[in-house]
Amino acid sequence: MLFQKKIDESKLKIPAHVAIIMDGNGRWAKKRMLPRKAGHKKGAEALEEIIEDAAKLGVKYLTVYAFSTENWNRSTEEVDALMDLFAQYLKDCVERTNKNNMRVKVIGERSRLRSDLIERINEVEETSKNNTGITFVLAVNYGSRDEITRAVRKLSSNVKDGAINPEEIDMDTISSFLDTASIPDPDLLIRTSGEERLSNFLLWQLAYSEFYFTDCLWPDFNRDELIKAIYAYTKRDRRFGGRKK
Ligand code: FPP
Repeated sequence: MLFQKKIDESKLKIPAHVAIIMDGNGRWAKKRMLPRKAGHKKGAEALEEIIEDAAKLGVKYLTVYAFSTENWNRSTEEVDALMDLFAQYLKDCVERTNKNNMRVKVIGERSRLRSDLIERINEVEETSKNNTGITFVLAVNYGSRDEITRAVRKLSSNVKDGAINPEEIDMDTISSFLDTASIPDPDLLIRTSGEERLSNFLLWQLAYSEFYFTDCLWPDFNRDELIKAIYAYTKRDRRFGGRKK
């Protein structure tokens, strides 16, 4: 067996904002000859644990990609199972946020979602909005190009109405029209399951983030895997395009 060095957690640099592309639920299920929805269910359990672990480690924002604008192309059965899972998850979240002081925010285009899901989203956002613990950001029916398109539409109508002068538009103006307005950009992006692409996730916001890819399938991702990702992040040298001092 390979000797693995024990990571000294006291030396870790904890990223304020971690974003995760939770990939590999289907493969996890296939390996066990289970239906894909069993993989998603196990993925939801892994997520619940990771939010708690991240909060305890001092992460302030955790953003996860739960359903993309492209995921509607999956079978109706799988899409329905995922929507059921999200609805149940958000329902449980209301109770959890009261106990753990977590704030929940959902990003993505909502009008295409089921009405019960929209109600749950509104409820959990409203009940948790003044909480001061970790902010959990859930991306549902989210696509970065869709988000940017919607932002440009809103911005243009403000320009048309005379509320915004085109000369005054800067990067902060654009950020403020995105779904993630008021959320700082991620410091670390993690993608599980060995895939190494962004898949239309937070294209604007990830401009200077560190990327970490792991072969671990999402349902198997746990505190140890998170520590490994944060350890890799700790060793990186972030220069934001500038020179090393
Ligand atoms: C990618 O795995 C995962 C998804 C498209 C869904 C993410 C959803 C969860 C982790 C479930 C729970 C989330 C919440 C918020 C309750 P995949 O199906 O593409 O896996 P594959 O690439 O192995 O087929």
